[in-house]
Amino acid sequence: MPFSVRVGEPGDIDQVIELLFTAFHERSDDMAELERMVFEPQRSLVAHDEGELVGHTGAFTRDLEVPGGTIPAGFVTMVGVAGTHRRKGIASEILTRQLGDIRDSGEPAAVLWASEGRIYQRFGYGLASRRMGLSIDTREVRLTRPPAGGRVRAGLADTLRKDLFRGYPFGRAGGRPGYASRTETWWDFLLADKARQRQGAGPLRAIVYDGPSGVEGYALYRVQSEWDTAGPKGEVKVQHTVASTPEAYAELWRFLLGIDLTRTVSLVYGSVDEPLFDMVNEPRQLSAHVVDGLWLRVVDVPSALRARAYPSHQNLVIEVKDDLFEANTGRFDLSGARVTAPADVALDISALGALYLGGGSAAALCTAGRLTELRPGGLAAAHSAFTWPLAPTALEMF
Ligand SMILES: CC(C)(COP(=O)(O)OP(=O)(O)OC[C@H]1O[C@@H](n2cnc3c(N)ncnc32)[C@H](O)[C@@H]1OP(=O)(O)O)[C@@H](O)C(=O)NCCC(=O)NCCS
Repeated sequence: MPFSVRVGEPGDIDQVIELLFTAFHERSDDMAELERMVFEPQRSLVAHDEGELVGHTGAFTRDLEVPGGTIPAGFVTMVGVAGTHRRKGIASEILTRQLGDIRDSGEPAAVLWASEGRIYQRFGYGLASRRMGLSIDTREVRLTRPPAGGRVRAGLADTLRKDLFRGYPFGRAGGRPGYASRTETWWDFLLADKARQRQGAGPLRAIVYDGPSGVEGYALYRVQSEWDTAGPKGEVKVQHTVASTPEAYAELWRFLLGIDLTRTVSLVYGSVDEPLFDMVNEPRQLSAHVVDGLWLRVVDVPSALRARAYPSHQNLVIEVKDDLFEANTGRFDLSGARVTAPADVALDISALGALYLGGGSAAALCTAGRLTELRPGGLAAAHSAFTWPLAPTALEMF
């Protein structure tokens, strides 16, 4: 099937939204407004068939927190192909070309949320972070940590905007790999609170925790009110919590778990090492489930390796295979330099993506057949070099 591909233009937005609404079986003016707010036409690739827009991929320009630093990254988004043109290679063409564009722009990696993980692995994306959701029966769970003092303030999210900004530790102490930079526009996007996003719950609310050093954390949530013959059984729907001190973390959760007339607290964007597990008397009642989070594709191995920190084994050598970018194939040390020394482990580019944010397990990837130990002790060295004390997490869908 013939199709042509070109870089996007501002005037494409209406057709792009129409394509995405059809592809995602969704239609709402609210969501269209949000897409318009953040659309970056010059980063889009559109596929046309005789004048009809039949495929699209886009990217946002944001920074990504990685272990020990931040990198510019292509935040891939708005991927869709018309139902009449599916499985003809259009997504393959534009997603591959997009990775080259991201590399050419100097960004070492691309990240995305997948509608279905199986779509992206063939392009070299690896599962770099997992998302843990919670559904807590609040009558069954008590915090074992005594109250810390400090002060919790609550209000509609937008009215606390300046405090949220202060409490978001992107790229500094308290931040985590996977966090994304937020410009004013991205704060607008995060706090938009459209009717479509509420899904029957109340408005977007926030709490902030003030400690000795000022705002030390915040949480964003909505409350869904519900009653039955036995009385109130509302649900607190927490989008995410962010805390740069242990006191902030504990007091945010103490507030959320104690909101009157509610019986359940759910958390959408949690990390797999959520300290709540070690802070309650009945961890099983947190009813945790884990799914895939951010997928990451390293497009420039030397600069990606150079940009992050490693807790140990600085002299590790890895042998990388990348079928798309020849320059990524070969042996590298952790400073990103190409070396001739024998490698400790061999892995393909998607396994490197899975390890890059510090959450993947080299040992698990080895068992899964995605990483090979090349010398005795190489696997253990790779495992500890790439692992990071804080599990990566992503706080918002983009
Ligand atoms: C996902 C989507 C963009 C794929 O577009 P496409 O043009 O049909 O993809 P391609 O023809 O390039 O497919 C390339 C390969 O990926 C596979 N593939 C594509 N989408 C897949 C899916 N959803 N599930 C499983 N495999 C898929 C194809 O079978 C093909 O494999 P093959 O080469 O072995 O035959 C399109 O189906 C779509 O718009 N889906 C709905 C919206 C969506 O999920 N977007 C992704 C947002 S994160």
